[in-house]
Amino acid sequence: MFRHGSLLCLAFASGALAQTYSATYLPTNAPNQTEQGQSGTNQCGTGNSQNSTCQNLFVNAIDDWCIFAPPDPGPDSVIGNTERIEVAWCIKPGHGTRLIPDGAITGAHFVQTPDYVQVTGVGDLTKINIPQGDEGGELDPHGADGNGNPIGGLVFTSAFGTLAQAHEWTNFVAFDEFCIRVCKDGPNAPALCQHIYDVMGCEWNMPGDYSNGTFDSCQGDTGEPMGVYGTSTWFQGVNPTPSAHPAPATSSCVPTSTIGNGLAASATSSGASASGSAGSKSGSATGSGSRSASSAGASATGGAGNGAAPLLGRGATLELMVAGAAVLVGAGLVV
Ligand SMILES: *[C@@H]1O[C@H](CO)[C@@H](O)[C@H](O)[C@H]1NC(C)=O
Ligand SMILES: *[C@@H]1O[C@H](CO)[C@@H](O)[C@H](O)[C@H]1NC(C)=O
Ligand SMILES: *[C@@H]1O[C@H](CO)[C@@H](O)[C@H](O)[C@H]1NC(C)=O
Repeated sequence: MFRHGSLLCLAFASGALAQTYSATYLPTNAPNQTEQGQSGTNQCGTGNSQNSTCQNLFVNAIDDWCIFAPPDPGPDSVIGNTERIEVAWCIKPGHGTRLIPDGAITGAHFVQTPDYVQVTGVGDLTKINIPQGDEGGELDPHGADGNGNPIGGLVFTSAFGTLAQAHEWTNFVAFDEFCIRVCKDGPNAPALCQHIYDVMGCEWNMPGDYSNGTFDSCQGDTGEPMGVYGTSTWFQGVNPTPSAHPAPATSSCVPTSTIGNGLAASATSSGASASGSAGSKSGSATGSGSRSASSAGASATGGAGNGAAPLLGRGATLELMVAGAAVLVGAGLVV
């Protein structure tokens, strides 16, 4: 599932890149739809409904965050099939979205860093329409045509001041695990919210706390950009695959007993004991299931403008791209 067509520039690793975006919205002034071909809406109001087609996400706090997931249940709703039409599912009511039912999330960990906020965790995401066993995939504001996965998805955060749109973000969802990182707009945002490692899963892209049975909110250091190792940048598909960066240090963690909104899910297993499985999940580095299949399909088609594909095409002999060689940045800026 490489993202085609949104790459506008190759820059050198050390170069800061000015970013311009085609538009900046707030939930209160977004148009009904922000992209052509959008399935849902960005005019979401302030209620919530389990039929909402709202495609606005918020990541503000441990008790106020959202992820994208399929609009409809069923075995065909694997993320690989639905990435263009995902809708917003939130913990907190009032954003005009669907609500993640209580008990669906059994562990969640919010981290605020200087450059991004991130939520990592586990749960039974079949309760938000992800088919059992689906290793899922990656969602981001770029997509095959620059319009985002889902098309027209917008992300907002108040973590860096007043509520603002964040133009760079990345969200992985699977049937049992999720992670979302929302970057503060700025020169570091494209690298820290890099979206090209889309078969590498949560724990490689966003190393952090995935413990089951606990919920907390921490301060944290900014991690190293995914895929960048000192002066080298690795590209997905090139052997050998490097290990994930270590999880950045966190501090001032405040535990909370649970999160929720009062919406009951049928047959949930809430109140999970703290038996936990910290660090035991190996991530989906092999991109099993539909992810790997669709990824292969996408890369085989060549990748006009993708950036990743041409580099990978030469990559049979390239193990690590050396600094100073092309590094992908700024993909999906204004078209
Ligand atoms: C928003 O667009 C959708 C899809 O075209 C349409 O069904 C809906 O009625 C529109 N809503 C408003 C408030 O215009
Ligand atoms: C969602 O839509 C279905 C079908 O139109 C309807 O039966 C159901 O009551 C709606 N649910 C909510 C929560 O609005
Ligand atoms: C989390 O813990 C609960 C209770 O022990 C368990 O039922 C569930 O399968 C665990 N979830 C994951 C993703 O490990």
